[in-house]
Order: sequence, then C-alpha cells, then structure tokens
Amino acid sequence: MQIITTINEMKAWSAKARRESKTLGFVPTMGYLHEGHMSLVHKSLAECDVTIVSSYVNPAQFGPNEDLDTYPSAPEKDRDLLLSAGVDVLFRPAAGEIYPKGYKTYVSVEGITAKLCGISRPDFFRGVTTVVLKLFNIVAPDKAYFGEKDWQQLAVIETMVRDLNMDVEIRRMPLLRESDGLAMSSRNRYLDSSERNSALLLSRALKMAQEKTKNGERSANKIRDEIRQIINESSQAKIDYITLCDPYNFEEVTNLNGKTLAALAVKIGSARLIDNCILESV
Ligand code: PAJ
Repeated sequence: MQIITTINEMKAWSAKARRESKTLGFVPTMGYLHEGHMSLVHKSLAECDVTIVSSYVNPAQFGPNEDLDTYPSAPEKDRDLLLSAGVDVLFRPAAGEIYPKGYKTYVSVEGITAKLCGISRPDFFRGVTTVVLKLFNIVAPDKAYFGEKDWQQLAVIETMVRDLNMDVEIRRMPLLRESDGLAMSSRNRYLDSSERNSALLLSRALKMAQEKTKNGERSANKIRDEIRQIINESSQAKIDYITLCDPYNFEEVTNLNGKTLAALAVKIGSARLIDNCILESV
C-alpha cells in the first residue's frame, strides 16, 4: 500500500491507473477507522480494480465550538487495517495541502442542507461538499462509497454530483451497528460507560418506531413522541432533533406512507450522536 500525502502525487497515481484502464474506487474518511468504514472499503475492493482511501479531518466542516481539535485519530492502526485489507493507496493530505493560504472557494447545495443537521451545524454540509468535490477532483474515482449512517450527508453529496454533472458513481452502503445496536461511529470514543448505555436509547427508539410502523401505526406525531420518551429516559441525553421525514427532500411527514426516514441527533456528554432508519409502511 502506498501512502500519499501530496495532491500532485495523488493525481499522478490516479492518472497512471486510469491509463492502465483500471477502475478506481474511493472511500473518503476522517480516519479513526472502524468496521463501518471498513465495510465501504471492502465493497470498493470487491467492485473496483484499485481502491484509494483518504483520511483527512476536514476543518471546513467543523463549527467554531465543535470537536475539530479533539477529533480522535489512530494513524498507525488505520494504516495497518487498510494494509491488511489490501487497499492500494492511503491518501493522507498534509496540513495546508487542501486549504492553502488564500483559499477562497466553497461549494454548497441549497435547501436540503438547511434541514436536520443543517439547523444546528449551519456550515457543516458546505464543508463536506467542498472537501468531497476537491477530493473527487484529486482522486478522479469511478465509484465513491458513502455510508447511510450519515443519511443526509449522502443525499447532499448525491445532489451535488447530479447537479454538477460529475462523472462519479455514488455507492450507498448500509449503516453498521455494534452487536448491542449502537451505530458505529468514531465519536463513540467520547462516551464513558454510563454515557454509552444512554447512547443505546437511540437505536432502541428507532427499533420501536420500526415495530410500531410494522404494526400499523401511521401517525408521525405519535411515533416521534414515543421516540422522545425513550430518549428522555436518560437525563444525560439532550435531543437536538427527532424527525420523521421524506428520505430525499427531508420534508416532515404527518402520516406515514411508503418510505419515511426516522432520523435523530442527540448530544450525550461531549458526543453529538446521529442515527437513522427507514420506516416502511404500505
Ligand atoms: P467519517 O465520519 O470518517 O465517515 C466516512 C464514511 O464512513 C462516511 O461515508 C460515513 O457515512 C461512513 N460511516 C461511518 N460510520 C458508519 C457506519 N456505522 N456504517 C456505515 N458507514 C459508516 O463522513 C465523513 O467522515 C466526512 O464527512 C467525509 C465524507 C469524509 C468528508 O470529510
């Protein structure tokens, strides 16, 4: 596995692979890898001739009072994981490569970025789309892999790719959970054991919502209230939002019909956790 830290070198590597008619798979990450990330990596390895994984904690997607400075990292462990998986390139741009002095250009998707996570994190999606577009320009992948753990992020990236006629296929991968239901996340690292227990309420609440829907409940208000009750069982949990909405335009729904996204963001201790699932009603 090659570790590349400069944009020029990364571009040259991709151009060569392309000349050799190889298909390029790309998995953008912020490092501190877990099985959720690795599921994307394995899919890329299975579908593409070469796989590039980037690891870059993108300052543009963190707000002023967020965890940029404490975001967990384990570069050696990440490298070993990717090496043994058979990844071809780990792209770890050095500080200053992505946003050099005088940097001025940002890309934002309108509308859907003002909802859900966009309310409490107003600059988040603009930071994500900017860095993802830059990474796509540098790596020039055929396919790029993203997890449904970050459902809204995925929808925003799909919208950018469609609107800007970008030549990359976005591959959606399912959300991976720990055996007790907790959605895998690098930020779970912030949880102590009592907070981790509280965090289990998120997946429990979503599971309840799925069961209620299966048993015929169609009132979004009722399901939302029950999710709230479950989360509020812990005094450590501070709800940012609970929504039952259209999975693609994020408009709130009143009556469940077809596919509805149930999504939540909850702060527990210093961790802001997100989770989601699809509720299917016929
Ligand atoms: P990061 O949080 O490191 O996640 C990288 C990719 O892994 C994202 O596509 C995310 O959805 C996916 N992922 C994380 N946890 C997952 C889980 N439990 N199951 C399935 N997939 C999971 O998301 C980012 O980084 C950044 O915003 C990034 C896209 C790299 C731009 O900076």
